[in-house]
Amino acid sequence: MDGTTENQAQAQRRTIVSFVRRNTRLTPKLQKAWDENADRYLLGIPRQDAEHDVSVAAGFRLDEDFQRSQWGRIRPLIVEVGTGQGENIAAAAAARPDCNFLAVEVFDQGIAHTLSRCQHQALSNLRIAQADAAQLFATAFPDGSLEEVWTYFPDPWPKMKHHKRRLIQAPFAANVLRCLRPEGLWRIATDIDDYALQVHETLDFFPGFANVGAKNVSLATEHVGKGNADEAAMLPHALFRESERYGGRIVTSFERKGLEAGHTVRDLTYRKTAPTTGVAATEKE
Ligand SMILES: C[S@@+](CC[C@H](N)C(=O)[O-])C[C@H]1O[C@@H](n2cnc3c(N)ncnc32)[C@H](O)[C@@H]1O
Repeated sequence: MDGTTENQAQAQRRTIVSFVRRNTRLTPKLQKAWDENADRYLLGIPRQDAEHDVSVAAGFRLDEDFQRSQWGRIRPLIVEVGTGQGENIAAAAAARPDCNFLAVEVFDQGIAHTLSRCQHQALSNLRIAQADAAQLFATAFPDGSLEEVWTYFPDPWPKMKHHKRRLIQAPFAANVLRCLRPEGLWRIATDIDDYALQVHETLDFFPGFANVGAKNVSLATEHVGKGNADEAAMLPHALFRESERYGGRIVTSFERKGLEAGHTVRDLTYRKTAPTTGVAATEKE
């Protein structure tokens, strides 16, 4: 292994684990969807560690050659991280045949649902990566290769002691920045105020990103955990800029549950202002 590859492998091993594998047995219907569609839609990702089957081998590149071989054509590539059951990305892929789409998810059932949508909507521009997004963004995408990155309703990790497992933190942000094309967008949505605060703290002053939101919203400026959410109302607040709801984002069943629980859904949009540097971002201890 040369020095660069070794550094990349080390960076991967230090990524945050933002998910818990919940792989239960697929129902016969979902198993059928998997068996009939995985060959066409599910990417073969070389693994770093066979025991951890959502890992990504350090040497794997999701580059133009790979894109051409899997999607059939090169088009602007939009990646959604944590696609759940694939409701949003399937709708987006159907609405925008001018783009290629990649769904990144770890959870078998979610992937099986997404495969089923691909089949029933006869989608030709959507592929699925069963992979830890933190590893995929650490080494697989070439610099400046992505049109947009979407992270809608990332796992909230509501307890204070688990906030460190949230996906949107500086190391992941540095990798998203590297992978986006100049002027490319990172669109984020959350129904957890405390997560929105974390996104503002991570990205509003992140060198190379600009918050393009034009809507002023008031948020508590201190973090609260599950069970303390009401206390946030008593804390000092400040104004932050967020975006109007993105028209290309549909209401998923996950978002619907948040709305029914009385949550406020927030859209946040960041544009890459930095030129692509060619320097792969690594995670700091
Ligand atoms: C709260 S769900 C939201 C799903 C979907 N975006 C929606 O709006 O319905 C978050 C999803 O992110 C996935 N996820 C969390 N961390 C991930 C990671 N590092 N790589 C890929 N998927 C991840 C989880 O498995 C889960 O399906």
